[in-house]
Amino acid sequence: MASICLIIKKNMNRLFLLLFAVALTNCTDHKEDNSVDIEKILSQNVEKTKETLKELTPDQGFARNIPNGQTNWELVGVKDWCSGFWPGVIWYAYEASGDEQLRLQAEKFTEPLKTIAYSAAENHDIGFMLYTSYGNGYRLTKNEEYKNVLLAAADTLATLYNPNVGSILSWPSQTQFRHNTIIDNMMNLELLFWAAKNGGKQDLYNVAESHALVTMKNLVRKDSAIYHVGSFDETTGDFLKGQTHQGYADESMWARGQAWGIYGFSVAYRETYRKEFLDTAIKVSEHYLNRLPEDGIPYWDFDDVDIPNVPKDASAAAIAACGLLELSKFVKNEEQSKKYVSAARRMINLLSEAPFYSGDTNQALLLHSTGHLPHKSEIDVPIIYADYYYMEALLRLQKMDEDNSTELAKS
Ligand code: GLY
Repeated sequence: MASICLIIKKNMNRLFLLLFAVALTNCTDHKEDNSVDIEKILSQNVEKTKETLKELTPDQGFARNIPNGQTNWELVGVKDWCSGFWPGVIWYAYEASGDEQLRLQAEKFTEPLKTIAYSAAENHDIGFMLYTSYGNGYRLTKNEEYKNVLLAAADTLATLYNPNVGSILSWPSQTQFRHNTIIDNMMNLELLFWAAKNGGKQDLYNVAESHALVTMKNLVRKDSAIYHVGSFDETTGDFLKGQTHQGYADESMWARGQAWGIYGFSVAYRETYRKEFLDTAIKVSEHYLNRLPEDGIPYWDFDDVDIPNVPKDASAAAIAACGLLELSKFVKNEEQSKKYVSAARRMINLLSEAPFYSGDTNQALLLHSTGHLPHKSEIDVPIIYADYYYMEALLRLQKMDEDNSTELAKS
């Protein structure tokens, strides 16, 4: 009798495992058969980050780009708008691996950026510099000193707010644009929202919310493409015109700008629950997805008349993937949510293979980003923010897959 019970029990266990495997396959139906192995790619990226760290120290500077013909990062100082991304990559590598050596390195590369929080604001990029470095550092370590730096950084960023316009002056030095508010600036509201919830001034929430509303009303065009720069009268607050700085033309769709919009409006919705931000995030995402070339990675600007003979922008793909993964958490329709996860997964799959994955080519994780083509700078090269958002997207996907498996195991 006991042996019959054992046989039944064993077979029940097998049946359970079989059902679990079938359920897992159904649950991850947004995963394509040729999905990359996220664990493997993350661990390769961690190893590569460790190798690169052997050749870099914070006093030399912070990784920014790798010009053609070079294999090592070109370095910039703390005041460069990209200074936070390299410490951010190291924090993500620490998050992926739990390697304490990486935590120590991340701390070393984070600390020099403190000065930005306590100096007069030169531009909106304070969020890019500090939320990627100190923000990830605080999220992962809960170091109280990091929190204080972030709160100071939020106050400094808010000094650029103009109440007449209701938005932050993104580039004080670019006076030709009058009071300018650029789509990239949406990404720096997260620092303000975070500070308002974590002991900072409540007004920081109002500044961020107002900034997002002004951006939504004036920079998002009727066709759902986004202006790079909005120019406003600094006294009356009137919207003067939409322009570009880094895109092909004022009315074109600059790929990275559209990606900043996808991510930025998704976060604005997460923080405010204002439906118009969700609607905006959806419409700018749909427009981006509908206009993507068949191979899934955008050209630097969707409207360059010389497409397909123009460079791609891998950074836009990595940013859009993060934004779509964020958005997928808030759309009410399950099919639509799966569509955004699936689109993001496809982007990350594509970036994880030739011709975008760097492998042994140079110190970067990704090739083929375009920084500022009209200025003839950073064209079709590795750029550090592509690596940063690529690591973020991989970690987001890994977490989603783990959560799905846990949910299934519980059900
Ligand atoms: N925030 C500047 C850029 O996206 O190039």
